[in-house]
Amino acid sequence: MNFIDIILKKRYGQELTDEEIAFFVKGVADYTLPDYQVSALLMAIVLNGMTDREMTTLTLRMAESGAMIDLSDMGGHIVDKHSTGGVGDKVTPLVIPLCAAFGVKTVKLTGRGLGFTGGTVDKLKSIQGFNINIDPKDFRKLYNDVGMVISGQTPDLAPADKVLYSLRDVTGTVDSIPLIASSIMSKKIAGGADSIVLDVTCGSGAYMKTPERARELADAMIRIGDLAGRKTVAVITDMDQPLGRTCGNVLEMQEVYETLIGKGSEDVVEVVCYIAAQMIRLAGKNEGIEGDDLIRECRARLTDGRALEKFNDLILSQGGLLNEHGLPVYVDKPFEALKVTSPETGYIKSIKTDDIGYASVELGAGRHKMGDKIDRGAGICFYAKVGDKVKRGDVLCSLCHGSKPLIDDAKLFDVMEKVLNAYEFSDEPPMPHQAVIDVIGA
Ligand code: URA
Repeated sequence: MNFIDIILKKRYGQELTDEEIAFFVKGVADYTLPDYQVSALLMAIVLNGMTDREMTTLTLRMAESGAMIDLSDMGGHIVDKHSTGGVGDKVTPLVIPLCAAFGVKTVKLTGRGLGFTGGTVDKLKSIQGFNINIDPKDFRKLYNDVGMVISGQTPDLAPADKVLYSLRDVTGTVDSIPLIASSIMSKKIAGGADSIVLDVTCGSGAYMKTPERARELADAMIRIGDLAGRKTVAVITDMDQPLGRTCGNVLEMQEVYETLIGKGSEDVVEVVCYIAAQMIRLAGKNEGIEGDDLIRECRARLTDGRALEKFNDLILSQGGLLNEHGLPVYVDKPFEALKVTSPETGYIKSIKTDDIGYASVELGAGRHKMGDKIDRGAGICFYAKVGDKVKRGDVLCSLCHGSKPLIDDAKLFDVMEKVLNAYEFSDEPPMPHQAVIDVIGA
């Protein structure tokens, strides 16, 4: 096969055959295709799109380019979740124990943060001793004994996607629905999912800035799921402001615990319960409860101690520490370093959430590049959210660092300026935000 013909075919908007896509993915995975030719095809895909069949073939070939997790012989239906990312997104450490409280078994492979979004790996590592690098051969034991595993992605999971993603990052080809959809779905399928629930975030703190784009991405992934034989449901959620009351690693894990004892923020509870309800339904563990009743039952089990018991099981099974009162032991303690106060009286109209995410990275909660040190105590606590009425001088949020801050006072004030600039005020109350915007494919 001549790869130039494949590039030209896509350049002129024609459909690639399964064999051509397989040739492309193989050449990417074994590095026999040069970067410039792969990049040319990626750009042609960005410009001319892909049919559902092309996207599905690309997804499956990328999934098969490395190790595939297969727990089908252990019985049970494996349901996985994926979030397209955001700021303050602490959904995974809540959803997995909540699903376990309904008897749903999960193997969740999770990534590090990208850009301004925080990653679940770093959040869970803020519990002392918690091992996030589970050897795939131990998945079976944990799946069997505890019914939950949360692990960082192994390097051999969908390696073709890894190569393509790093090329896309430097060739202006990240923002493409077929490429994003196949990238995400390939990792879910390689991770052994029988069915998939997607949390597709939208707004200023998400890759998809509008509900329309989020729906477009969700639809593409649902169609791939259908053609690949994995029932897929998408929950579109709001990321036009940070989720919950905190962003940052220890801060978010503290908020997870508060949520499990009934002191959570309503937006977090809503998103977690909608996603869990879909996972429970797909796994067939909804005990005949449907619709709003299932959401109510999720709310009950999230806060009445049943999900907390599973959360503690998860921590202990992966080497995490609980103290003598049964509370998680964190690797550091966040200190409030600076309160950010409102310069105006009025309503909070909007919060540029990507800017808040970048500010949190500057405080030390995330990395600018791989290998950077992070401050697990760093982050931001939000005291007022979109729609809240504030007076001049009221505290909007506070900037935190851990016991060994990575930034000095001058930088802290610099971050404060950036955070303040992310807030917009109005005299009139803004339209209320719904944490869950839509559920598609249920
Ligand atoms: N997340 C992924 O896993 N892949 C993409 O292409 C974009 C976001």
